[in-house]
Amino acid sequence: MSLMRIDGEGLGAEYCAQLPEWSQRALAALVRLQTKTCRASESTGWYHWPRQGGFALARDIHTLVAEYPLAYDMVVVVGIGGSFAGCRAVDQALRHSYQELQEASSLTTPKTRPILYAGHNLSEEQLIELLDILPQRQIVLTVISKSGATTETSVAYRILRSYMGQHYGGDEARQRTIIITDQHEGCLRQQAQDEQITSFVLPRDIGGRYSLLTAVGLVPLALAGHNIDQLLQGADELFTSLETSRGVEHPVVQLAATRRVAWDQGKRLDLLAYANPKLPGFVEWWKQLFAESEGKEGKGLFPVGMAYSTDLHSLGQYVQEGWSGMIETFLFFRHDIPAQSSLVERRLRVPGFSRLNDGVSYLEGRLLEELSDGAMLAAYQAHVARGVPCIKLHFPRLDTYTLGYMIALFEVVCALSADLLEVNPFDQPGVEAYKKRMFSLFAKP
Ligand code: PA5
Repeated sequence: MSLMRIDGEGLGAEYCAQLPEWSQRALAALVRLQTKTCRASESTGWYHWPRQGGFALARDIHTLVAEYPLAYDMVVVVGIGGSFAGCRAVDQALRHSYQELQEASSLTTPKTRPILYAGHNLSEEQLIELLDILPQRQIVLTVISKSGATTETSVAYRILRSYMGQHYGGDEARQRTIIITDQHEGCLRQQAQDEQITSFVLPRDIGGRYSLLTAVGLVPLALAGHNIDQLLQGADELFTSLETSRGVEHPVVQLAATRRVAWDQGKRLDLLAYANPKLPGFVEWWKQLFAESEGKEGKGLFPVGMAYSTDLHSLGQYVQEGWSGMIETFLFFRHDIPAQSSLVERRLRVPGFSRLNDGVSYLEGRLLEELSDGAMLAAYQAHVARGVPCIKLHFPRLDTYTLGYMIALFEVVCALSADLLEVNPFDQPGVEAYKKRMFSLFAKP
């Protein structure tokens, strides 16, 4: 039985009429991916990665963490695009929302070390603020760049290494640095060799935005204390399910076909709706995956995240009555009852409050989770009634294993969807345009 369930009832009759044909084509695209006969097959090393290298890599990473010679209480990730978005997606989804405040008041012991990010923008202010707090912490810095030649990453790395040299001294700064880059090429690989800095490889056949389950995501996540084995096992379940069931009913085939039908029907926006406020980072990762993979040659759905019910009081108006060129996917999670402490049941119900005539007494006794699911369902029904083709994806509890499964799911859907649009999912030539102009602005030699 599949870990997830897909419900396409909200797609509409016209839509469903085109699905069988595109499902067959999506299935053929899946076979091309599996047999490495697809376009740019030299970049498909991420497919079935846990078994191809992920599980072995995890063992090396466990050794690194267990034998790490220095004390540390914070991880700093320097990288941009696929070299940072995946780590942030997983860490944010799993972390207590108010961990920093928890630590300050010592209410509970945090399970994971904080991860902070640099090199994903050029904000002088944010980097100064990061430097403000670093002296209070003992850090490990992971610098992640496949090319080793990305301006944002290089600038932040220089500044942070300079700080570390002054604060810890050269030798300890070196020991507190971990490099993740190409196996043979680039200045970071050179530096790792010259200075004997601990390093990991981003395999040649895996591009940045498909690299979450490689050292790019696993090293910082493991250093922070996340369970990377669970992450890989969840991904492995998805990949393995594709080997055992190659049918058109598989969710990846259905989802890829759905996107292609949307394109044919003139839809241009792809909305991903979620209620759990820990998912913005995941949605940012998803946005990068699809936008950089599909958005080329004048094609591709533009990915948009919808945080409900917050966005029902802003973007929801547009979905309901604005331009109708969109499809929408709703992410539902089962809320398993969290472990109870001896004193507090960790559930919240709407309490009685007779002195306030606010019109919500009819909700008294309801669990917040019921209301949250209700708001998602109400938005789904309203958008379907408006004629927006909608899909529901039902997942188990949002945990490390489920996240691993979701990462693999969206990676495969993205590759198939791009194949059906006849674009290369693994390059990003458009990114060069701004880079060239920036080089020229600053007179790069
Ligand atoms: O998906 C991609 O390949 C890109 O988003 C890259 O990850 C991003 O441009 C960073 O590149 P690099 O890792 O070479 O610094």
